[in-house]
Amino acid sequence: MSRVTFRPDQIEIQVPPGSTLLAAARLAGLLIEAPCNGAGHCGKCAVQVAPEYFDRLTIPPDSRLPPEREEAGWLLACHALVQGDVTVTIPVRRECGLQIVTSGEKRRSVALSPWISKRFMPESCQTYVYAGERLLTVERGDSASDICGVVVDIGTTTLVVALVDLVSGKELASDSALNPQSLHAQDVLSRIRFCAEPGGLARLQGELIAELNRLIAGLAATAGVSRSWIYEAVFSGNSCMLHLAAGVDPAPLGKYPFTPTLTGGEHLEAAALGLAIAERGVVYLPPVISAYVGADITAGILAAELTELSGTTLFIDIGTNGEMILARDGHLAATSTAAGPAFEGMNISHGMRAAAGAIEGVRITAEGEVELDVIGGVEATGICGSGLMDLVAELVSCGVVGASGKFTPAERLPEPLGRRIEKVNGTTLFRISERISLSQKDLRQVQLAKGAIRAGIDILLDERGVTAAGVDRVYIAGSFGFHLREESLLILGLLPPECRGKVSFLGNTSQSGGELLLLSHRLRVELELLTPLVARVELTGRSDFDRIFMKAMGF
Ligand code: FES
Repeated sequence: MSRVTFRPDQIEIQVPPGSTLLAAARLAGLLIEAPCNGAGHCGKCAVQVAPEYFDRLTIPPDSRLPPEREEAGWLLACHALVQGDVTVTIPVRRECGLQIVTSGEKRRSVALSPWISKRFMPESCQTYVYAGERLLTVERGDSASDICGVVVDIGTTTLVVALVDLVSGKELASDSALNPQSLHAQDVLSRIRFCAEPGGLARLQGELIAELNRLIAGLAATAGVSRSWIYEAVFSGNSCMLHLAAGVDPAPLGKYPFTPTLTGGEHLEAAALGLAIAERGVVYLPPVISAYVGADITAGILAAELTELSGTTLFIDIGTNGEMILARDGHLAATSTAAGPAFEGMNISHGMRAAAGAIEGVRITAEGEVELDVIGGVEATGICGSGLMDLVAELVSCGVVGASGKFTPAERLPEPLGRRIEKVNGTTLFRISERISLSQKDLRQVQLAKGAIRAGIDILLDERGVTAAGVDRVYIAGSFGFHLREESLLILGLLPPECRGKVSFLGNTSQSGGELLLLSHRLRVELELLTPLVARVELTGRSDFDRIFMKAMGF
């Protein structure tokens, strides 16, 4: 066995030779951020090793960091194999001030009819608590006005929790945080892989519930209510997040025929999940359409009132998984497309989450100067997904990036832009600031991501016999989309040009739709009846998918 000592906590663990440093850290109960869960392309699991330990580690040749980083002792924990006793330093996570969209449009008002209700019986001086028609419990005295619920938007990256008074229907407090699962594995497929490891599912579920309990306790304290008054939680989120929250193995979501075990529209016991609300409290999972069109989208259907709109509406949630709905006079069709992690700022040389220090907006002036909007107004340390889209759209507009996605040679550009084109270790890049640049490989990631979304849109429209000009309105939902500009989406070609002037950004409709479901059990029934009627469009079923996707990758 080999001994691995992790600094700064001086924690030791014995592992068999050949184990990765990442596996050793996990065994020791330590956290090394690993968004791609060991696939070797996010670069976020880098740890530092002193030179005397170099020969006690082997590193596969295809997983090496740039020479200057390796010389400083950095290596990928997910690929470095332990061959003897080593000491490793895990860098302190500096990310703070995460930017999270906590609310979304709610285009309908709703008559208050929560699934949970209380009735005071003066003759027995007791209060009866019901979930629908089912008696949940009996409380002593008159507690009929002490009744709350929480709406939880379980995003792949972030969590948003709102505490709602079920008597008045008013939101009492809300809070948000990073989804702790994203530190182990950023996207849905990496999380499914993590669950296949021993104890993986229990760890992801446990950490999520612990974080929700922390948030709920904070909200209850802020609003001055007891957690024992909270009788229901609505969990909104994509299909994988619902599986993980419920402690259900998400493996079927990752392999053909991609059938979710949980289809939603069901109530679970909160205590069985470890959720610290009222002892007899329940958790409602909204219905999902498919493995990759989840409750975040069905909640969005409600929030955006898609079934009530006349004409044609395209509803898109842009993320690592792009989910979309085409609504035509009340008839809905859905599809999803794997966009990859670029929209989350992952797999990008200087990518980061939308937290303090992230570039979130870019403008290139007529003089060729590059102006940056940085979250928190601090020095830029990286670029988040929305900043990346803005940057690439500006580079395309200025001719720095051509239609094929290649950088224009420096000598063909105006001087202020041309001098930002550099060649480093054989790679062409655009220098954004002294520390941050965009490489040709990064551009490729953007092309893959936006190409996947655009191909999804084109095929969905085609399958339903609609032209782009026939779309009356485009709704962009979700945290990521909220920070985008219509112009950037059009320049990138992520949306067809015919959508100009028709785009609205709705924010976090997973959260606002979840709140409607908490307040109205009539809407739950409506949504559960509607969901099976949504037509599913399978992109992989199209023999011309590759051709459409390739075309959609151009600018
Ligand atoms: S590169 Fe190691 S976890 Fe992503």
